[in-house]
Amino acid sequence: ESIMKGEFDHFMQKEIFEQPEAISSTMRGRLVLDVLGAAERVMLGGMSQFAATIRRSRRIILCGCGTSYNSAIAIRQLFEELTELPVTLELASDVLDRRCPFFRDDTCIFISQSGETADTLKALEYAKAKGALCVGIVNTVGSAISRATDCGVHINAGAEIGVASTKAYTCQIVAMVLVALSLSEDSRSKHTRRDDIMQGLLKLPGCVKECLKMDAILLELAQELKEEHSLLIFGRGFNYATALEGALKVKEVALVHSEGILAGEMKHGPLALVDKHMPIIVVCTNDGSYEKQQSVVQQLKARDGRLILIVSDDDTEMEKTAPDAVILRVPKVEDCLQAVVNIVPLQLLSYHLTVLRGHNCDQPRNLAKSVTVE
Ligand code: G6P
Repeated sequence: ESIMKGEFDHFMQKEIFEQPEAISSTMRGRLVLDVLGAAERVMLGGMSQFAATIRRSRRIILCGCGTSYNSAIAIRQLFEELTELPVTLELASDVLDRRCPFFRDDTCIFISQSGETADTLKALEYAKAKGALCVGIVNTVGSAISRATDCGVHINAGAEIGVASTKAYTCQIVAMVLVALSLSEDSRSKHTRRDDIMQGLLKLPGCVKECLKMDAILLELAQELKEEHSLLIFGRGFNYATALEGALKVKEVALVHSEGILAGEMKHGPLALVDKHMPIIVVCTNDGSYEKQQSVVQQLKARDGRLILIVSDDDTEMEKTAPDAVILRVPKVEDCLQAVVNIVPLQLLSYHLTVLRGHNCDQPRNLAKSVTVE
């Protein structure tokens, strides 16, 4: 086991630090470069035969559990933008509980690290029985979900051993960005946007690497927060998923209650919890939601909120809005890729909180890496 961990103390830590390489593996051979080294197009061998059918679908349904479901939330907006199809999200267990109406002209995309999660597999069998086209975004080659889907993309993140998913999350997002790009390759009106995203993908491993340099800062923050009983995380738009996934990490490994909240919902309940004691992380990197997030920060500040802000590296405004906040600066990337970068400080924070609180980050109590029972 210690040979597998190499220079790291835990698998979770190793897998967080492996992300730049894992993301490169997800893109390898799929993001095709021109002679000058710029990204030119996307090639997904496991899906190309079905791309036309998917484009003709009535809607796209993204389905998974836990972290894999959060990656679906992270990608929904880009899927809607690039495919111009309605995109809905389903937790696999809820598909089964509700007996969702799925149809022959639906495309269901099943996302799973292990490829063995019972709820996701059952939802897949259900969707198949309804005649929907089933696509897999799976890490484990040869797994049940990978075998049962009509087509798909392996995320190629490498084995993930820590129970809390880290590199599979970021690689799932990247794999789905590739899918969204390949589904929209014929769209002339989206040419510039697609090109910006492709060039952004090329820079992504380097930006994640840059983010990992924040490790010492996050250890310090974890020291400050280690006795806390609760932590709120606010995000919106492309970073609603960051809030949910950050909170999931904190609760599943550090065993601290944490809630990821859609910032737009703040006034409808969560604001009541804000006082000078409760630590609150706001994801407010610079994208189309920036001004709205600035107003969220102002409102939290007005209620004496104890703020930690994740901002873009070139930001100068947020520290003026909340001068006493802890500021975490991350590299700015294309808006739809920012979630891949923004989750890194939250992964590092939850890792350090876990170790400082004396818990086992690789095998948190009561949880399993792969949940093979319904
Ligand atoms: C379990 C794991 C989570 C994971 C979820 C879905 O709950 O502890 O880390 O996100 O299952 O697993 P999957 O393998 O389908 O992505």
